[in-house]
Amino acid sequence: MSNTLRDARRFWRASFTGAAKSRENLRARIAIGLHFLEYGLALEGARPGHGLEKALQLAADIDTYVDNFACDATVEIALRTLQNYLAFNAAADLDLGEISTVVTRHIGKVTGGLSGGVETVTADQIRHDGMMDFLKFAEARHSIRTYKQEPVPKGAIERAVRCAQQSPSSCNRQTCRARVWTDPADIAKIAALQNGNRGFGDQLGGIAIITSDLAHWEHAHERYQAWVDGGMFAMSFAYGLHAEGLGAVMLNWSVTHDQDDRLRHLTGLPESELVITMVGFGVLPDQLRVPVSQRKPVDYALTLDAPLHSSE
Ligand SMILES: Cc1cc2nc3c(=O)[nH]c(=O)nc-3n(C[C@H](O)[C@H](O)[C@H](O)COP(=O)(O)O)c2cc1C
Repeated sequence: MSNTLRDARRFWRASFTGAAKSRENLRARIAIGLHFLEYGLALEGARPGHGLEKALQLAADIDTYVDNFACDATVEIALRTLQNYLAFNAAADLDLGEISTVVTRHIGKVTGGLSGGVETVTADQIRHDGMMDFLKFAEARHSIRTYKQEPVPKGAIERAVRCAQQSPSSCNRQTCRARVWTDPADIAKIAALQNGNRGFGDQLGGIAIITSDLAHWEHAHERYQAWVDGGMFAMSFAYGLHAEGLGAVMLNWSVTHDQDDRLRHLTGLPESELVITMVGFGVLPDQLRVPVSQRKPVDYALTLDAPLHSSE
């Protein structure tokens, strides 16, 4: 019970309902606002004026953010989206003056080369760039519990995190982070707090703590969303490592708060960041044994076109 209460208190303190208190809160509100505009602009039936109220709120949030924090990537993406919104609505009879003013005020300060708004893609492009035998790729992944004693290239870790960043996230809020350690002494300290790496923890070439920042969530109905977004991010990270030819294994963080506190104390992780899971990884040996981990027949997981009952 005390663990559940602490979960609730942590969510209440970090998240934002009504007022955006922290930088991360405001970042999230900006992400939600610009996502609303991008989403609307991308629809086939997109109409001039759609989302004007949200666009005005976004412009006001950008001002607040720049005044209190910095003119960073969050601002740049939001400004690019507003530019796109202004262009789409240019011919419409709308009062967009406030939005234009905010864009003009800050656009010269952003230099990251980031973009926002909508873009047109073709089915051919998507198929060409995305075509692979994904089932084969997925079936070739195993949880790896034997590693070669070789360092993991930093570039491979970075690419795997970029892959994780491509995961869908609620309103594109991107609440997740991978905190990665590759020094054997650091790995040993972290692995010592985790209960599922016996027999191979000392062989790992890296260990990641995957988190979701609760400051990005707004209402009570979002209280479990961090687990969903975090799980997707963790899976994409594991697939990213797999795509780099590395081995990886999820390392559960099914713990009570006393153990969670030990990890926070060791790593300096703030209370607002929820630990979703750890991921151990490293270089594959030339030959190794893995559990078969036979999957159930597909009809266990798939129900197709089941008859529906009346909605009354
Ligand atoms: C959230 C989660 C936590 C896990 N924790 C551990 C763990 O602590 N130690 C471990 O050796 N494997 C762990 N696993 C790996 C599972 O045992 C493994 O995914 C499952 O047996 C299927 O095997 P496969 O991944 O090789 O397909 C975890 C998996 C998940 C999804």
